[in-house]
Amino acid sequence: MGKMITKKVSWVGKVDWELRKFHGDEFSTNRGSSYNAYLIRDQKNVLIDTVWMPYDKEFVSNLKQEIDLSKIDYIIANHGEIDHSGSLPALMREIPNTPIYCTANAMKSLKGQYHQDWNFIPVKTGDTLELGSSTLTFIEAPMLHWPDTMFTYMSGDNILFSNDGFGQHFASESMFNDSVDAGELEAEAFKYYANILVPFNPMVFRKIKEILAMNLPLDMICPSHGLMWTNNPGQIVEKYLQWSSDYQENQISIIYDTMWNATRHMAEAIAEGIRNADPSITVKLFNSSKSDKTEIITEVFRSRAILMGSSTVNNGYLYSTAGILEMIRGSKFKNKKAAAFGSYGWSGEATKLISEELTKAGFTVVDEGIRTTWVPDEDVINILRQYGSDFVSKL
Ligand code: FEO
Repeated sequence: MGKMITKKVSWVGKVDWELRKFHGDEFSTNRGSSYNAYLIRDQKNVLIDTVWMPYDKEFVSNLKQEIDLSKIDYIIANHGEIDHSGSLPALMREIPNTPIYCTANAMKSLKGQYHQDWNFIPVKTGDTLELGSSTLTFIEAPMLHWPDTMFTYMSGDNILFSNDGFGQHFASESMFNDSVDAGELEAEAFKYYANILVPFNPMVFRKIKEILAMNLPLDMICPSHGLMWTNNPGQIVEKYLQWSSDYQENQISIIYDTMWNATRHMAEAIAEGIRNADPSITVKLFNSSKSDKTEIITEVFRSRAILMGSSTVNNGYLYSTAGILEMIRGSKFKNKKAAAFGSYGWSGEATKLISEELTKAGFTVVDEGIRTTWVPDEDVINILRQYGSDFVSKL
């Protein structure tokens, strides 16, 4: 059922407590998520976004309890991805002529997904829609995170409907940011940013500066996932400015995979060397075959440097190393340093190959890495500790 946000705006979305994977199996959502849709009742009534397709019947049924569907004057589609547009086919079967306001790119993505010639009204940044006592202003936000994305600003209530921007995968019955633990909320917003928005950092930074320059009064930010920023919405805007500016903390992440634990012993010895050299650095280790890949990318985003290790197998590196390298490549991280390591028995190519991939991914690879044969003995462990300490001096 809907939840009142202001006298004119109700949340009419779906809280998905069950969701544990998003974007197929790409993104872990350990706290579930929500698909936030909003109903504005003014002299004209507006629906902003819908919910993911598996919940379409439930969405339309609940919406009917909120409003006679024929009284919806306009639909706004801020973004065409199926988690927000997936209930449009079911809804449009009921109100087929209702105009859908969206960007020209969203027309393409919606037509491409649903193959329907709905009554699309393309809009651009600065276009407005009068509702009576309030006005909607559209702000295109391409590549935050699809080409079709836009924000919608509502005057009077001073709400920015930001779609994926400022979202978090966080299921909660109470929908306001001050109703949950602030640390948990920031952690989810950070993970979301690290895994969805980092590749588009320059666009995020420019868009936020553009919106701030518009000097719009801002009482709330209502994203399409998770909690609404109703208490001090500026806090998440500030965070986005930091995160989109080549963000890093004083952390080194060591990511490895290992067949018989030799490369794990290497990772642990290198970690010890880093701690010996500078105890102020946070060091975290992840076996990439056992750890959540979404969390690994989150920690890489947090890090000033990473070390990636793999045993050599069949003249290359292990399967999970390949997966993480591909995710890192797509993330387009900037201003981070790296090195590679690994154990081998006879050919030993993995370290060199990982270094090459890290370089291609935009990392500054500080040296040729370190590789050792078979299982490291105490002398080799000492060499690895020294390597870890030396690595710190190269940052
Ligand atoms: Fe939440 Fe890009 O969809």
